[in-house]
Amino acid sequence: MQGKVIFRQLFDKETSTYTYLLADAQLGEALLIDPVYENVDRDQKLLGELGLTLKYVLDTHAHADHVTGAGALRERTGAKTGIAATAGVKCADLNLKEGDRISLGQLSLRVLATPGHTAACLSFYDGERVFTGDSLCIRSAGRCDFQGGSSAVLFESIQEKLYRLPDDTLVYPGHDYQGFTVSSIAEEKKFNRRIRATTSVAEFSATMHALKLDPPKRIHVALPANLECGKPQIQSA
Ligand SMILES: [Fe+2]
Repeated sequence: MQGKVIFRQLFDKETSTYTYLLADAQLGEALLIDPVYENVDRDQKLLGELGLTLKYVLDTHAHADHVTGAGALRERTGAKTGIAATAGVKCADLNLKEGDRISLGQLSLRVLATPGHTAACLSFYDGERVFTGDSLCIRSAGRCDFQGGSSAVLFESIQEKLYRLPDDTLVYPGHDYQGFTVSSIAEEKKFNRRIRATTSVAEFSATMHALKLDPPKRIHVALPANLECGKPQIQSA
């Protein structure tokens, strides 16, 4: 796979969201993970500059803090959108579940069901990188207090699935608020401040329940919009 896959990490300053571009260079076909509605022009321009055709737009989950660019990118490019089958997004082209594969030439992403931050969170694993959305973050883990979240479920997703990936797997999260861009499974097992390899479910649940977080500022706009693939008319409602 080395040398044939194009990889870019893109950032949304407003919501500290990462969007990822992966492509097979020879085939000239790409996919995006977690695009942000306001950055669709930027992302489309980059695809054009790199000579890539967009085939898939994947969301790790129905985001509460920003509107997905999936629907807008599908309208512009004809790409297929994908999200967990259980996320309740009826307009999605691909209803993804554990074990599914998204392939473009040399690039093959395995779908991992990693619920807990929401009941329908996915991670995507390409054999050397894992895109964890808000399930596992760098030195952190996603909040579990809405959208069917559960600290016990998230504990199992991280300990039994993500922490069982090879130690040198690179961890690319959905957000970062501290300036980190990438980590590894080994690093998180050792240094994650919410959940290390040795953390018990009781300790993790106590940590997560002690978080007193305000609801995301745009949840009332973002969630309904994202259940409709991020339609712009719902965004401005
Ligand atoms: Fe989230």
